Amino acid sequence: MIETALVLGGSSEIAQAILLELKPLGLKRAVLAVRSPQEIEPLLDSLLPGLDLAVCSWDATDASGSAQMVADAGTTLGRIDLVVCAVGMLGHHAGRGMTPEAIGLMVQTNFAGPASALSAAAEFLVDQNKADSSRVATLLVLSSVAAARPRKSNFVYGSTKAGLDSFARGLGDALVGTGVRVMVLRPGFVRSRMTTGLEPAPFASDPRQVAVYAARELGKKRSKEVVWIPGKLGPLFAVFTNLPSALWRKIAAER
Ligand SMILES: NC(=O)c1ccc[n+]([C@@H]2O[C@H](COP(=O)([O-])OP(=O)(O)OC[C@H]3O[C@@H](n4cnc5c(N)ncnc54)[C@H](OP(=O)(O)O)[C@@H]3O)[C@@H](O)[C@H]2O)c1
Repeated sequence: MIETALVLGGSSEIAQAILLELKPLGLKRAVLAVRSPQEIEPLLDSLLPGLDLAVCSWDATDASGSAQMVADAGTTLGRIDLVVCAVGMLGHHAGRGMTPEAIGLMVQTNFAGPASALSAAAEFLVDQNKADSSRVATLLVLSSVAAARPRKSNFVYGSTKAGLDSFARGLGDALVGTGVRVMVLRPGFVRSRMTTGLEPAPFASDPRQVAVYAARELGKKRSKEVVWIPGKLGPLFAVFTNLPSALWRKIAAER
């Protein structure tokens, strides 16, 4: 049963869709960790009606505050059943030509910051489960299909997601037996604020569809550790990741 959640990147459209999907399944309270609490606070009642919500200030580019932020969220929620890691940036171009500073910011936002926060959250959840092991706690990590194989148009974004994806799966291995599980979501193109103005890729989905997949898997005792969304992307990328580079470059083309 998931009654409480902490969301890293709490203004994410996908994360909010996940919270709404989990509400009828028992979710009651959530803490949204966001860069600009003042921007989201007035919108909470309309965005996430019926949930008991708190907002805290957190920036992925400052790893120093992550452990305290998780501990404070634990105090607010009483117990954390779910941590959703939805922080991320894409922009309209994430390939060659980005400045070194822009690349550094993307690595920090999409990989280094979330990884350090996930590590702090994992230790918190392990300690929490030592005190009360009646419920499994979950770290739900938004990776991406872009993590599976780099493309010239967005290899900076893709590589940061590949780093986070690998970190999360390794963390999941290290947490076996602790009562804390890691679930990695690999959506394809999602029509959200992040992709506004971009042409949808094949197999595009909406935040709600991502949320339905996530909620379905979270409800299972023997859940998948990696969830492709939509599911057909899994077998497709099993082939794509093994194609010769020249052929992959043709398929990926200008995408
Ligand atoms: N949309 C897609 O096509 C797609 C596909 C696969 C995976 N994903 C992943 O899914 C996750 C959610 O994306 P989304 O589609 O829901 O887009 P979104 O609405 O733009 O969510 C991204 C979130 O990251 C937050 N964020 C950015 N930089 C931050 C920082 N330095 N510190 C703290 N928070 C920061 C944003 O907060 P602000 O409100 O402050 O900007 C926003 O809440 C991301 O990790 C993304 O990479 C998205």
